[in-house]
Amino acid sequence: MNKRFFITTAIDYVNGQPHLGHAYEKILADVIARARRSLGQEVFFLTGVDEHGQKVQQAAQARGLSPQAYCDELAAEWRAFVKKLGISNDDFVRTTERRHQAVVQAVLNKLYAQGDLYKAPYRGWYSWKEETFLTDKDREPDGSWHPRWGEVRELVEDNWYFRMAGHQSWLIEYIEAHPEFVRPETRRNEVLGFLKTRELEDLCISRPAARLSWGIPIPFDPDYVCYVWFDALMNYFSIPVAHGDRDAAAALKGFYEPGSVRDGEMKLWPADVHVIGKDIVRFHAIYWPIMLRAAGVPLPAQVLVHGWWQKDGAPMSKTTGNVVDPVAVIEAWGADALRYYVLRELDVGADGNWTDAGFKARYTAELANELGNLVNRSLSMLRRYRGGVVPARSEELAAEARQVSRESRELLEQNQLQPALLKIWSLVTRANQFVDQTAPFKLAKDPAQAQRLDAVLYGLAETCRVLAVLLWPFLPETATKIYAQLALEGSPNRFAAADWGGLPPGHRIGEITPLFPRKDD
Ligand code: MSP
Repeated sequence: MNKRFFITTAIDYVNGQPHLGHAYEKILADVIARARRSLGQEVFFLTGVDEHGQKVQQAAQARGLSPQAYCDELAAEWRAFVKKLGISNDDFVRTTERRHQAVVQAVLNKLYAQGDLYKAPYRGWYSWKEETFLTDKDREPDGSWHPRWGEVRELVEDNWYFRMAGHQSWLIEYIEAHPEFVRPETRRNEVLGFLKTRELEDLCISRPAARLSWGIPIPFDPDYVCYVWFDALMNYFSIPVAHGDRDAAAALKGFYEPGSVRDGEMKLWPADVHVIGKDIVRFHAIYWPIMLRAAGVPLPAQVLVHGWWQKDGAPMSKTTGNVVDPVAVIEAWGADALRYYVLRELDVGADGNWTDAGFKARYTAELANELGNLVNRSLSMLRRYRGGVVPARSEELAAEARQVSRESRELLEQNQLQPALLKIWSLVTRANQFVDQTAPFKLAKDPAQAQRLDAVLYGLAETCRVLAVLLWPFLPETATKIYAQLALEGSPNRFAAADWGGLPPGHRIGEITPLFPRKDD
């Protein structure tokens, strides 16, 4: 059985409000997933929600609901959000699901049996808001706690710890030997810098159930639940195990009883890409590989770290109301307009700033006036001058289309999304220039130029078709519309179809409508 290309996003806190940042991460992962499928790989794309922890317990209490009832309601909203974005995920994980909990408990049992876990008292300063103990390094210069920590109180309690001793040096060596493990380079350097200058402290992986009951019970000590990050990270592994990945489950032999597998057996682990934001790099590039290594599980191939979006130069925040609501953007402009803007605006890793004016400017100049106009005028001329019937095959623009296909393919294979989009766009630009240079409307007036006009019209229509195929991972609705306007069967979702000459002479194209209608404010 072939291993599938396995890609994940971070799982969102169920009690947060879906905003542009969450949408962005899913869009990035979706483009990679679609690109791989288009290139012929079998893909498994996982996203979902993180449901345990203090904040969820408190929020449910405030609403007078049980935590489970509260999560059920919110998980449904997150699922609807993912659907609205048009994300092509294959599964949606909720950390309260039995299939996930069973694996978390099996890993805990294995680590316990191996002596990787021990119980010890802890006295420290605890932030209730962030659910974390703080150290003196977290204090402000004047010794106070920053308001972002919320209420900070001294707390003494016994807890379970995961030994870090012995893990730091192999991890440094591993990251040095595997430059692709943390991308982009700046984030890799940050992780290496941290590992080389700070000694990792043992990780506290439990919370007393008396203070926090909303979590996965520690199987060998029922007075405790599992720390929410240990639980959440494990989703990337629990879902492959739940889908019957035998090699993955083998690491838990003796600790895990495989249940009935719904969809048959799959081979998913190790993950190929974990797409995450810059704030959670340490969890993914330090604790996650250590957890896996200790459990005897191979490491994922890549942690791909994206930057953060602001709006109008300030952080997005529910409290200040400074948020971009992706659902409102999609309802007004379409999902592809949102996808195009975020993918074109930022290379993976860079931070971004959303402004409504910037968004509208790209929509008008690039989507409507460049891509939209190219398709519209190419197909309109074909209809006007040749009754919508594709003329004999020509090689006009073929060389350019072949080069762009080849180069954008190479970029997509390296998850270089913005460079790939720019490369594809260079074909849009070239084809628009070609219309201006060849002036088909003049050729049409001269009967002696009929063959030349045929060649130009074929080149343009075929370029539109190739663009649909190349753009499909980025703009799936638009690509599908271009195919429909060309009256082609099926979907432009196979990269191999970008080969020149797919448009058959004599074929009659379909109805032409603007891809990106201009909007008056
Ligand atoms: N639940 C944890 C992740 C556990 S993964 C095993 C969490 N959730 S979150 O809802 O706070 O964030 C989910 C993802 O959204 C993170 O990757 C985070 O970086 C990303 N973003 C949240 N706000 C963002 C922006 N303003 N901009 C871009 N991405 C942002 O952390």
